[in-house]
Amino acid sequence: MRAILQVAAVLSVTASGMVAGNIVEAVKVESLDGFKCGTPLVKKIKWTPVAVYPQSTVKLNDKRALELHKGAKGKIVEVGALTDGKEIAIVLRWPDKSQDLYKGYKSDLYADGFAVQFASSAQEPEKLPYIGMGSDGRPVAIYLRKAYERVYEPNGGGDVAHQVNPHNTPYFGGALEKFKEEVAQKGTTTYQRAFVSEGFRSMTEIRDGSASYRTDMHYVEKRGGMWGGTVIRPVEDGYAAPTQGEYAVAIAVWDGKELERDGLKRLSGWIAVKLPGGKNGELERVVSEVVSGDLANGKKQFETNCASCHWSRDFQNAPLYMAPGLENIGGQATAAYLRESILDPNAVVVPGYNRNAHPNFSWYMVDEKGNRTSTMPPFNYLDKKSIEDLVAYLQSQKAEVEK
Ligand code: HEC
Repeated sequence: MRAILQVAAVLSVTASGMVAGNIVEAVKVESLDGFKCGTPLVKKIKWTPVAVYPQSTVKLNDKRALELHKGAKGKIVEVGALTDGKEIAIVLRWPDKSQDLYKGYKSDLYADGFAVQFASSAQEPEKLPYIGMGSDGRPVAIYLRKAYERVYEPNGGGDVAHQVNPHNTPYFGGALEKFKEEVAQKGTTTYQRAFVSEGFRSMTEIRDGSASYRTDMHYVEKRGGMWGGTVIRPVEDGYAAPTQGEYAVAIAVWDGKELERDGLKRLSGWIAVKLPGGKNGELERVVSEVVSGDLANGKKQFETNCASCHWSRDFQNAPLYMAPGLENIGGQATAAYLRESILDPNAVVVPGYNRNAHPNFSWYMVDEKGNRTSTMPPFNYLDKKSIEDLVAYLQSQKAEVEK
């Protein structure tokens, strides 16, 4: 009985019976010039269903959004990749019942969007970057695309005459229509950004043109509504390169309808993306490692050692912002990362917490040199079996996945 329960807990089987994976094979194509969602090349893609889970690490300071996210489920995003030898395209498609576009002047509307994150290197798979944002010394390159209505950034273009929004212009009637038309004509900017990041507050937009990339986002009414999204970047540049023909990639999607933005999103674990002929066995082993420990003992260990600070699906007694929420950690962290977190909390100090939301608890201390020390004590004195059982328990911590 126990064995069956364990299998059900670790594989993300959706209601429709689809089993999520995390190894994606890039298909070789002649050329990626002009490739977008919806072009015929899409038919060549080998799709892998990847589960993405609500991020519960850092809570947003927004009651309405938090309320909407109680009991939020995971989703399946299908992920594929194409390469022409010079560039790599990561292609996503995922269900979303409503097309939520950002409309510049309405600040309570949030846009659908997605991000693709590349670990700069997969040379040390046991030490992949912190999944959301990279971490000290473990950088990531992040490509972000949001579904904006034609965006017009007048100041970016040095255009002062049109920098007011339509509600604040001195125009009305026919003059306002004409003004709006002019803005619409000029509004060609797409919301796409590239960042490098080594931890939350270090996220830096690449604005010097050194990151060559393009993105695309495309909504179709098929299957109850779904988005397609593409990120195309060089196979190798100063921001990320494959190791033995493979990248560690993670993806995130935002649903504007659910008020998702910033850290409030659905996030995958690390995915191994293989170029044709790529073979990084160690990366594939690390991203798919499932620990078969004793879940009941893991839960007991958690209650004894961890529940005073962390939330899990079973224990929610700790003060809300005391430590990162672990309710979905099993859908996002590798077993190697979980082990490291328990044995050596300082290896990766989760950097992001919202000071406005929870000013009373510091997750780390900073010394004169700027080094951060976690306030979590190391549990390196626990015996090996208890640690593996804890890791198995943490891996079981994830929301159910929507079909
Ligand atoms: C005294 C409070 C405290 C206790 C007890 C504690 N932790 Fe933590 N833990 C933290 C804090 C604060 C952080 C964030 C800073 C960091 O990354 O070390 C953290 C981070 C983590 C992370 C990384 C989370 C992420 O989002 O990446 C994991 C995993 C974790 N703890 C697991 C455990 C486990 C398992 C136990 C019990 C064996 C435990 N913790 C006990 C306070 C605690």
